[in-house]
Amino acid sequence: MTADRKICMIPGPIEFHEDVLAAMATPATSHVDPNFVPIFGETIEMVRKVVISENAQPFIVSGSGTLGWDMMVNLIEQGDKVLLLNTGYFGSHFAQCLETYGAEVTQLGAEVGSRPSQEAIKEACSKTQYKFVTVTHVDTSTGVLSDIKAVAETVKSVSPNTLVVVDGVCSVGSEEIRFDDWNLDIVITGSQKGLGVPPGLSIVVASQKALQVVKDRKTPVPSYYSNWNKWLPVMQAYEARKPSYFATPAVQLIYALHASLTKVLSQSLEDRFDKHRKVASQFRQTVKEWGLKQVAQCEECSANGMTAIWLPEGVQVGKLVGGLAEKGVQIAGGILKDHATQYFRIGHMGISVMEDERQHIKKVESALANSLQELGYKGASA
Ligand SMILES: Cc1ncc(COP(=O)(O)O)c(C=O)c1O
Repeated sequence: MTADRKICMIPGPIEFHEDVLAAMATPATSHVDPNFVPIFGETIEMVRKVVISENAQPFIVSGSGTLGWDMMVNLIEQGDKVLLLNTGYFGSHFAQCLETYGAEVTQLGAEVGSRPSQEAIKEACSKTQYKFVTVTHVDTSTGVLSDIKAVAETVKSVSPNTLVVVDGVCSVGSEEIRFDDWNLDIVITGSQKGLGVPPGLSIVVASQKALQVVKDRKTPVPSYYSNWNKWLPVMQAYEARKPSYFATPAVQLIYALHASLTKVLSQSLEDRFDKHRKVASQFRQTVKEWGLKQVAQCEECSANGMTAIWLPEGVQVGKLVGGLAEKGVQIAGGILKDHATQYFRIGHMGISVMEDERQHIKKVESALANSLQELGYKGASA
Protein backbone atom coordinates (compact mmCIF):
# COMPACT_ATOMS: atom_id res chain seq x y z
CA MET A 1 0.00 0.00 0.00
CA THR A 2 1.37 3.42 -0.91
CA ALA A 3 1.92 6.12 1.71
CA ASP A 4 -0.50 8.51 0.01
CA ARG A 5 -3.35 6.03 0.11
CA LYS A 6 -6.68 7.82 0.52
CA ILE A 7 -9.95 6.28 1.64
CA CYS A 8 -12.09 6.05 -1.45
CA MET A 9 -15.34 7.85 -0.64
CA ILE A 10 -16.56 8.49 -4.16
CA PRO A 11 -19.86 6.91 -5.23
CA GLY A 12 -17.99 3.84 -6.45
CA PRO A 13 -15.57 2.19 -6.50
CA ILE A 14 -15.94 2.00 -2.74
CA GLU A 15 -13.63 0.67 -0.03
CA PHE A 16 -12.92 -3.07 -0.16
CA HIS A 17 -13.03 -5.42 2.82
CA GLU A 18 -9.78 -7.28 3.58
CA ASP A 19 -11.51 -10.59 2.72
CA VAL A 20 -12.27 -9.18 -0.72
CA LEU A 21 -8.67 -8.09 -1.20
CA ALA A 22 -7.46 -11.53 -0.11
CA ALA A 23 -9.83 -13.17 -2.58
CA MET A 24 -8.35 -11.05 -5.37
CA ALA A 25 -4.96 -12.51 -4.50
CA THR A 26 -5.87 -16.16 -5.11
CA PRO A 27 -3.31 -17.95 -7.30
CA ALA A 28 -3.98 -18.63 -10.97
CA THR A 29 -6.95 -20.98 -11.15
CA SER A 30 -8.62 -22.54 -14.15
CA HIS A 31 -12.18 -21.36 -14.68
CA VAL A 32 -13.20 -25.03 -14.89
CA ASP A 33 -11.27 -26.07 -11.76
CA PRO A 34 -13.44 -28.21 -9.45
CA ASN A 35 -12.66 -25.75 -6.63
CA PHE A 36 -13.83 -22.74 -8.63
CA VAL A 37 -17.01 -24.21 -10.13
CA PRO A 38 -18.99 -24.26 -6.84
CA ILE A 39 -17.69 -20.76 -5.98
CA PHE A 40 -19.17 -19.42 -9.20
CA GLY A 41 -22.39 -21.41 -8.63
CA GLU A 42 -22.78 -20.06 -5.09
CA THR A 43 -22.04 -16.52 -6.28
CA ILE A 44 -24.88 -16.72 -8.80
CA GLU A 45 -27.21 -17.91 -6.01
CA MET A 46 -26.08 -15.11 -3.70
CA VAL A 47 -26.70 -12.44 -6.35
CA ARG A 48 -30.28 -13.72 -6.59
CA LYS A 49 -30.59 -13.43 -2.80
CA VAL A 50 -29.25 -9.86 -2.70
CA VAL A 51 -32.10 -8.68 -4.94
CA ILE A 52 -34.52 -10.86 -2.95
CA SER A 53 -35.75 -13.17 -5.68
CA GLU A 54 -36.60 -16.87 -5.81
CA ASN A 55 -36.14 -17.63 -9.47
CA ALA A 56 -34.80 -14.64 -11.38
CA GLN A 57 -31.76 -15.36 -13.53
CA PRO A 58 -28.47 -13.66 -12.70
CA PHE A 59 -25.84 -13.10 -15.39
CA ILE A 60 -22.34 -12.37 -14.08
CA VAL A 61 -20.07 -11.37 -16.93
CA SER A 62 -16.70 -9.61 -17.16
CA GLY A 63 -17.24 -5.95 -17.95
CA SER A 64 -18.41 -2.84 -16.17
CA GLY A 65 -21.92 -1.62 -15.31
CA THR A 66 -22.25 -0.25 -18.84
CA LEU A 67 -22.18 -3.79 -20.22
CA GLY A 68 -25.48 -4.30 -18.37
CA TRP A 69 -26.98 -1.47 -20.43
CA ASP A 70 -25.57 -3.10 -23.55
CA MET A 71 -27.19 -6.39 -22.61
CA MET A 72 -30.58 -4.75 -23.11
CA VAL A 73 -29.85 -5.50 -26.78
CA ASN A 74 -31.38 -8.89 -25.90
CA LEU A 75 -34.78 -7.25 -25.36
CA ILE A 76 -34.72 -4.77 -28.24
CA GLU A 77 -35.89 -5.33 -31.79
CA GLN A 78 -35.73 -2.50 -34.35
CA GLY A 79 -38.24 0.23 -33.55
CA ASP A 80 -39.26 -1.10 -30.12
CA LYS A 81 -40.57 1.67 -27.93
CA VAL A 82 -38.88 2.35 -24.60
CA LEU A 83 -39.82 4.88 -21.93
CA LEU A 84 -36.77 6.10 -20.01
CA LEU A 85 -37.23 7.89 -16.70
CA ASN A 86 -34.38 10.35 -16.61
CA THR A 87 -32.99 11.61 -13.30
CA GLY A 88 -29.52 12.60 -14.50
CA TYR A 89 -26.41 11.85 -16.52
CA PHE A 90 -26.74 8.08 -16.34
CA GLY A 91 -30.30 8.14 -17.66
CA SER A 92 -29.21 10.24 -20.64
CA HIS A 93 -26.35 7.89 -21.42
CA PHE A 94 -28.50 4.77 -21.01
CA ALA A 95 -30.81 6.31 -23.64
CA GLN A 96 -27.88 6.64 -26.07
CA CYS A 97 -27.03 2.99 -25.49
CA LEU A 98 -30.59 1.78 -26.15
CA GLU A 99 -30.83 3.91 -29.32
CA THR A 100 -27.64 2.28 -30.57
CA TYR A 101 -29.61 -0.97 -30.81
CA GLY A 102 -32.62 0.51 -32.59
CA ALA A 103 -34.92 1.34 -29.68
CA GLU A 104 -37.17 4.37 -30.04
CA VAL A 105 -36.59 6.00 -26.69
CA THR A 106 -38.96 8.53 -25.14
CA GLN A 107 -37.43 10.29 -22.15
CA LEU A 108 -39.49 11.48 -19.24
CA GLY A 109 -37.41 13.88 -17.17
CA ALA A 110 -37.80 16.15 -14.20
CA GLU A 111 -35.98 19.23 -12.95
CA VAL A 112 -32.49 18.66 -11.55
CA GLY A 113 -32.72 16.89 -8.20
CA SER A 114 -36.22 15.63 -8.77
CA ARG A 115 -37.89 12.64 -10.47
CA PRO A 116 -40.82 12.15 -12.86
CA SER A 117 -44.19 11.94 -11.12
CA GLN A 118 -46.23 8.73 -11.00
CA GLU A 119 -49.02 10.61 -12.82
CA ALA A 120 -46.69 11.44 -15.71
CA ILE A 121 -45.48 7.83 -15.88
CA LYS A 122 -49.06 6.55 -15.84
CA GLU A 123 -50.10 8.94 -18.58
CA ALA A 124 -47.13 8.00 -20.78
CA CYS A 125 -47.76 4.25 -20.37
CA SER A 126 -51.50 4.66 -21.01
CA LYS A 127 -50.87 6.38 -24.34
CA THR A 128 -48.13 4.15 -25.73
CA GLN A 129 -47.37 0.45 -25.50
CA TYR A 130 -43.76 0.41 -24.38
CA LYS A 131 -41.67 -2.75 -24.64
CA PHE A 132 -39.97 -1.66 -21.45
CA VAL A 133 -39.61 1.24 -19.04
CA THR A 134 -36.21 2.00 -17.57
CA VAL A 135 -35.60 3.69 -14.25
CA THR A 136 -32.25 4.63 -12.72
CA HIS A 137 -32.66 3.60 -9.09
CA VAL A 138 -29.98 6.04 -7.95
CA ASP A 139 -28.61 8.40 -10.56
CA THR A 140 -25.02 8.76 -9.42
CA SER A 141 -24.80 12.21 -10.99
CA THR A 142 -27.52 13.71 -8.78
CA GLY A 143 -27.99 11.31 -5.86
CA VAL A 144 -31.68 11.16 -6.73
CA LEU A 145 -33.38 7.98 -5.53
CA SER A 146 -36.28 6.71 -7.63
CA ASP A 147 -39.18 4.86 -6.07
CA ILE A 148 -38.82 1.72 -8.18
CA LYS A 149 -41.59 -0.10 -6.30
CA ALA A 150 -44.08 2.65 -7.18
CA VAL A 151 -42.77 2.90 -10.75
CA ALA A 152 -43.27 -0.84 -11.33
CA GLU A 153 -46.75 -0.71 -9.77
CA THR A 154 -47.76 2.22 -11.95
CA VAL A 155 -46.34 0.76 -15.16
CA LYS A 156 -47.87 -2.70 -14.64
CA SER A 157 -51.24 -1.27 -13.58
CA VAL A 158 -51.74 0.30 -17.01
CA SER A 159 -49.54 -1.92 -19.17
CA PRO A 160 -49.01 -5.38 -17.63
CA ASN A 161 -46.78 -6.61 -20.48
CA THR A 162 -44.34 -3.71 -20.30
CA LEU A 163 -41.11 -4.82 -18.66
CA VAL A 164 -39.53 -2.77 -15.87
CA VAL A 165 -35.76 -2.37 -16.22
CA VAL A 166 -33.88 -0.94 -13.23
CA ASP A 167 -30.39 0.53 -13.52
CA GLY A 168 -29.22 -0.49 -10.07
CA VAL A 169 -25.52 0.20 -10.64
CA CYS A 170 -25.49 2.68 -7.74
CA SER A 171 -28.13 0.96 -5.62
CA VAL A 172 -27.73 -2.81 -5.39
CA GLY A 173 -26.31 -3.57 -1.97
CA SER A 174 -27.15 -0.18 -0.49
CA GLU A 175 -30.84 0.36 -1.32
CA GLU A 176 -33.77 -1.93 -0.67
CA ILE A 177 -34.70 -3.95 -3.76
CA ARG A 178 -37.37 -6.67 -3.69
CA PHE A 179 -37.20 -8.10 -7.17
CA ASP A 180 -40.11 -10.55 -6.91
CA ASP A 181 -42.42 -8.60 -4.58
CA TRP A 182 -42.04 -5.41 -6.61
CA ASN A 183 -42.56 -7.16 -9.95
CA LEU A 184 -39.25 -6.07 -11.49
CA ASP A 185 -37.96 -7.60 -14.72
CA ILE A 186 -34.34 -6.50 -14.94
CA VAL A 187 -31.87 -5.18 -12.39
CA ILE A 188 -28.49 -4.10 -13.76
CA THR A 189 -25.48 -3.52 -11.54
CA GLY A 190 -21.71 -3.59 -11.40
CA SER A 191 -19.30 -5.00 -8.84
CA GLN A 192 -17.69 -1.78 -7.63
CA LYS A 193 -20.38 0.07 -5.70
CA GLY A 194 -22.79 -1.31 -3.07
CA LEU A 195 -21.35 -4.81 -3.54
CA GLY A 196 -17.87 -3.69 -2.50
CA VAL A 197 -15.80 -5.52 -5.12
CA PRO A 198 -13.23 -4.04 -7.52
CA PRO A 199 -14.63 -2.86 -10.85
CA GLY A 200 -14.80 -5.46 -13.59
CA LEU A 201 -18.01 -7.45 -13.24
CA SER A 202 -21.28 -6.64 -14.94
CA ILE A 203 -24.20 -8.18 -13.09
CA VAL A 204 -27.68 -8.37 -14.55
CA VAL A 205 -30.67 -10.15 -13.03
CA ALA A 206 -33.55 -11.00 -15.37
CA SER A 207 -37.07 -12.21 -14.62
CA GLN A 208 -38.37 -15.37 -16.29
CA LYS A 209 -40.76 -13.07 -18.16
CA ALA A 210 -37.85 -11.08 -19.57
CA LEU A 211 -36.12 -14.31 -20.63
CA GLN A 212 -39.33 -15.33 -22.42
CA VAL A 213 -39.29 -12.01 -24.33
CA VAL A 214 -35.80 -12.92 -25.54
CA LYS A 215 -36.98 -16.42 -26.55
CA ASP A 216 -39.93 -14.93 -28.47
CA ARG A 217 -37.80 -12.54 -30.56
CA LYS A 218 -38.50 -12.53 -34.27
CA THR A 219 -34.95 -11.47 -35.14
CA PRO A 220 -31.61 -12.74 -33.81
CA VAL A 221 -29.90 -10.83 -31.00
CA PRO A 222 -27.50 -8.49 -32.85
CA SER A 223 -24.60 -8.97 -30.47
CA TYR A 224 -22.06 -11.69 -29.80
CA TYR A 225 -20.55 -11.07 -26.34
CA SER A 226 -23.76 -9.64 -24.82
CA ASN A 227 -26.00 -12.39 -26.18
CA TRP A 228 -27.93 -14.11 -23.38
CA ASN A 229 -28.42 -17.18 -25.56
CA LYS A 230 -24.68 -17.67 -25.13
CA TRP A 231 -24.55 -16.83 -21.42
CA LEU A 232 -27.69 -18.52 -20.11
CA PRO A 233 -26.36 -22.10 -20.51
CA VAL A 234 -23.11 -21.03 -18.83
CA MET A 235 -24.90 -19.53 -15.80
CA GLN A 236 -27.20 -22.56 -15.55
CA ALA A 237 -24.25 -24.97 -15.76
CA TYR A 238 -22.23 -23.27 -13.00
CA GLU A 239 -25.30 -23.08 -10.80
CA ALA A 240 -25.70 -26.84 -11.32
CA ARG A 241 -22.01 -27.07 -10.24
CA LYS A 242 -20.83 -27.99 -13.74
CA PRO A 243 -18.09 -26.20 -15.64
CA SER A 244 -18.97 -24.47 -18.88
CA TYR A 245 -17.41 -22.02 -21.30
CA PHE A 246 -18.41 -19.20 -23.58
CA ALA A 247 -15.79 -16.57 -22.64
CA THR A 248 -13.32 -16.78 -19.78
CA PRO A 249 -14.84 -15.55 -16.51
CA ALA A 250 -12.83 -13.14 -14.32
CA VAL A 251 -11.96 -15.86 -11.81
CA GLN A 252 -10.42 -13.63 -9.12
CA LEU A 253 -13.23 -11.08 -9.32
CA ILE A 254 -15.74 -13.86 -8.86
CA TYR A 255 -13.80 -15.08 -5.82
CA ALA A 256 -13.96 -11.47 -4.58
CA LEU A 257 -17.70 -11.17 -5.24
CA HIS A 258 -18.19 -14.49 -3.43
CA ALA A 259 -16.27 -13.15 -0.42
CA SER A 260 -18.20 -9.88 -0.38
CA LEU A 261 -21.64 -11.44 -0.82
CA THR A 262 -20.88 -14.00 1.88
CA LYS A 263 -20.29 -11.09 4.27
CA VAL A 264 -23.30 -9.11 3.04
CA LEU A 265 -25.63 -12.09 3.45
CA SER A 266 -24.24 -13.06 6.85
CA GLN A 267 -26.42 -10.23 8.25
CA SER A 268 -30.04 -9.45 7.54
CA LEU A 269 -30.56 -7.39 4.41
CA GLU A 270 -33.19 -5.33 6.26
CA ASP A 271 -30.55 -4.32 8.81
CA ARG A 272 -28.16 -3.47 5.99
CA PHE A 273 -30.66 -1.20 4.24
CA ASP A 274 -31.69 0.40 7.55
CA LYS A 275 -28.06 1.14 8.40
CA HIS A 276 -27.51 2.78 5.01
CA ARG A 277 -30.70 4.85 5.53
CA LYS A 278 -29.60 5.90 9.02
CA VAL A 279 -26.05 6.89 8.07
CA ALA A 280 -27.24 8.74 4.94
CA SER A 281 -29.89 10.64 6.84
CA GLN A 282 -27.40 11.67 9.55
CA PHE A 283 -24.92 12.78 6.91
CA ARG A 284 -27.59 14.84 5.13
CA GLN A 285 -28.56 16.40 8.46
CA THR A 286 -24.93 17.33 9.18
CA VAL A 287 -24.39 19.09 5.85
CA LYS A 288 -27.76 20.81 6.21
CA GLU A 289 -26.70 22.12 9.63
CA TRP A 290 -23.59 23.48 7.94
CA GLY A 291 -25.86 25.48 5.63
CA LEU A 292 -25.23 23.36 2.53
CA LYS A 293 -27.92 22.20 0.13
CA GLN A 294 -28.00 18.81 -1.49
CA VAL A 295 -28.90 18.26 -5.14
CA ALA A 296 -31.74 15.82 -4.41
CA GLN A 297 -34.72 17.98 -3.60
CA CYS A 298 -36.53 15.91 -1.02
CA GLU A 299 -35.77 13.47 1.77
CA GLU A 300 -37.60 10.54 0.13
CA CYS A 301 -35.85 11.13 -3.21
CA SER A 302 -32.38 11.17 -1.61
CA ALA A 303 -30.14 8.18 -2.15
CA ASN A 304 -28.87 6.26 0.86
CA GLY A 305 -25.52 5.25 -0.61
CA MET A 306 -24.32 8.65 -1.80
CA THR A 307 -25.02 12.36 -1.55
CA ALA A 308 -24.53 15.15 -4.10
CA ILE A 309 -24.11 18.61 -2.56
CA TRP A 310 -24.12 22.07 -4.14
CA LEU A 311 -20.90 23.98 -3.48
CA PRO A 312 -21.14 27.09 -1.33
CA GLU A 313 -20.54 30.29 -3.24
CA GLY A 314 -16.88 30.98 -3.97
CA VAL A 315 -15.66 27.41 -3.36
CA GLN A 316 -14.17 25.71 -6.39
CA VAL A 317 -14.77 22.04 -6.85
CA GLY A 318 -11.16 21.18 -7.78
CA LYS A 319 -9.86 22.92 -4.67
CA LEU A 320 -12.34 21.15 -2.42
CA VAL A 321 -11.58 17.72 -3.88
CA GLY A 322 -7.86 18.51 -3.60
CA GLY A 323 -8.26 19.71 0.00
CA LEU A 324 -9.90 16.46 1.04
CA ALA A 325 -7.32 14.42 -0.87
CA GLU A 326 -4.57 16.09 1.15
CA LYS A 327 -6.39 14.91 4.28
CA GLY A 328 -6.54 11.33 3.00
CA VAL A 329 -10.11 11.31 1.68
CA GLN A 330 -11.06 10.92 -1.97
CA ILE A 331 -14.38 12.46 -2.99
CA ALA A 332 -15.78 13.21 -6.44
CA GLY A 333 -16.74 16.35 -8.35
CA GLY A 334 -19.93 16.76 -10.33
CA ILE A 335 -20.70 15.19 -13.71
CA LEU A 336 -24.14 16.54 -14.48
CA LYS A 337 -24.29 18.41 -17.80
CA ASP A 338 -24.26 22.20 -17.27
CA HIS A 339 -23.68 21.83 -13.49
CA ALA A 340 -20.50 19.75 -13.24
CA THR A 341 -18.44 22.48 -11.55
CA GLN A 342 -21.18 23.49 -9.13
CA TYR A 343 -21.38 20.47 -6.85
CA PHE A 344 -19.52 17.51 -5.37
CA ARG A 345 -20.40 13.92 -4.53
CA ILE A 346 -19.65 11.62 -1.64
CA GLY A 347 -20.23 7.88 -1.47
CA HIS A 348 -21.38 6.22 1.74
CA MET A 349 -21.81 2.54 0.98
CA GLY A 350 -20.63 -0.90 2.02
CA ILE A 351 -18.05 -1.34 4.75
CA SER A 352 -17.72 2.45 5.19
CA VAL A 353 -21.31 2.37 6.46
CA MET A 354 -21.63 -1.11 7.93
CA GLU A 355 -18.41 -1.11 9.99
CA ASP A 356 -18.47 1.92 12.29
CA GLU A 357 -15.07 1.05 13.71
CA ARG A 358 -13.44 2.09 10.43
CA GLN A 359 -14.66 5.66 11.13
CA HIS A 360 -14.86 6.44 7.44
CA ILE A 361 -17.89 8.71 7.72
CA LYS A 362 -16.32 10.63 10.60
CA LYS A 363 -13.12 11.07 8.55
CA VAL A 364 -15.12 12.39 5.60
CA GLU A 365 -17.08 14.83 7.76
CA SER A 366 -14.00 16.13 9.46
CA ALA A 367 -11.96 16.45 6.21
CA LEU A 368 -14.92 18.12 4.51
CA ALA A 369 -15.51 20.63 7.30
CA ASN A 370 -11.81 21.51 7.54
CA SER A 371 -11.39 21.84 3.78
CA LEU A 372 -14.47 24.06 3.48
CA GLN A 373 -13.14 26.28 6.25
CA GLU A 374 -9.73 26.50 4.58
CA LEU A 375 -11.50 27.61 1.41
CA GLY A 376 -13.28 30.38 3.26
CA TYR A 377 -16.62 28.77 4.04
CA LYS A 378 -17.16 29.23 7.75
CA GLY A 379 -20.47 27.39 8.20
CA ALA A 380 -18.98 23.90 8.53
CA SER A 381 -17.61 22.44 11.75
CA ALA A 382 -16.43 18.89 12.35
C1 LIG B 1 -26.28 4.63 -12.23
C2 LIG B 1 -25.15 4.19 -13.09
N1 LIG B 1 -25.41 3.48 -14.19
C3 LIG B 1 -24.43 3.03 -14.97
C4 LIG B 1 -23.12 3.26 -14.69
C5 LIG B 1 -22.05 2.74 -15.58
O1 LIG B 1 -21.27 1.80 -14.89
P1 LIG B 1 -19.74 1.58 -15.22
O2 LIG B 1 -19.03 2.86 -15.02
O3 LIG B 1 -19.34 0.52 -14.23
O4 LIG B 1 -19.66 1.10 -16.63
C6 LIG B 1 -22.79 3.98 -13.53
C7 LIG B 1 -21.38 4.27 -13.18
O5 LIG B 1 -21.07 4.97 -12.26
C8 LIG B 1 -23.84 4.44 -12.71
O6 LIG B 1 -23.57 5.12 -11.61
